[in-house]
Amino acid sequence: MRRSTLAMVRDAHDNGYAVPAFNVVDDLSLRAVVDAAEEAGSPVIIQASLKTARSIGVELLTEMFDAATARCRVDTALHLDHCPDLSMIERVVAARWSSVLFDASDRDLGQAVAETSAVVGLAHAAGVDVESEIENIVGVEDGVGSDVIVHSYSVEQLADAIRTTGADLIAPQLGTAHGAYHGRPTLLPHRVRELRELVDCPVVLHGGTGLTEAEFRSLIAAGVSKINISTAVKHAYMDSAYHFLKKARAKDEWDPPSLFRSIAGEIRAVALRHFDIFGSAGRSPGVQS
Ligand code: 13P
Repeated sequence: MRRSTLAMVRDAHDNGYAVPAFNVVDDLSLRAVVDAAEEAGSPVIIQASLKTARSIGVELLTEMFDAATARCRVDTALHLDHCPDLSMIERVVAARWSSVLFDASDRDLGQAVAETSAVVGLAHAAGVDVESEIENIVGVEDGVGSDVIVHSYSVEQLADAIRTTGADLIAPQLGTAHGAYHGRPTLLPHRVRELRELVDCPVVLHGGTGLTEAEFRSLIAAGVSKINISTAVKHAYMDSAYHFLKKARAKDEWDPPSLFRSIAGEIRAVALRHFDIFGSAGRSPGVQS
């Protein structure tokens, strides 16, 4: 069942859990995540990076999502991840995806706020929710972003930007980074609390891969209600393919459907683990008793 990203994330905030948002790269990973959500009874957000949206195409991705979720009991949403490209935002809004992340973190504050306001106007007219990022979350995600901090603001400035732009969700710097961690991050849960006190706007955690269960739980307790997971899905995909193909070569057995099953099984396991940690399992209204 398709639902608004904002409604799902607000439910999560009101009930003390977070909705996982998984970046998928193709139909196999998309279906594996949706199957896991059905099995867990969890709401789920399916995300595509700008790179994936460009390579598969907005129309085909929309059809893939609609086909994979047509008979779902759980709440699902389709979201465009980090997108600084206004023409792609327009295409995704026209295709009526659930939400878009307009990533204006490479612009200075004035321009970021002005362009985000314009995106919100366009998206809301089509019933599409907007996640806003104006200070950059470090790490490069599928070719978008930077490994160093370019823009950082006070929570007051972030709250002002939300009030001015009317964006529905905010992705602030919380000490996390996209990709694998090469040391323990210093997390900033206090920023979530401070923001939530200033504005009634759901807070999104980026860079979920590699955080511990305790770290996830402390950020959810602070008020995070959407958590993005990308690298863990890609690793599960590539690792299982690598190990499967090594065995296939050793045995000289070449059966693509078995390879697909192996990859889907690993991605399903990643999704199930996160539904559990985030407290979203069994929370989708369609499956609650
Ligand atoms: P990871 O790749 O670290 O899981 O981050 C995902 C993300 O934040 C996508 O926007």
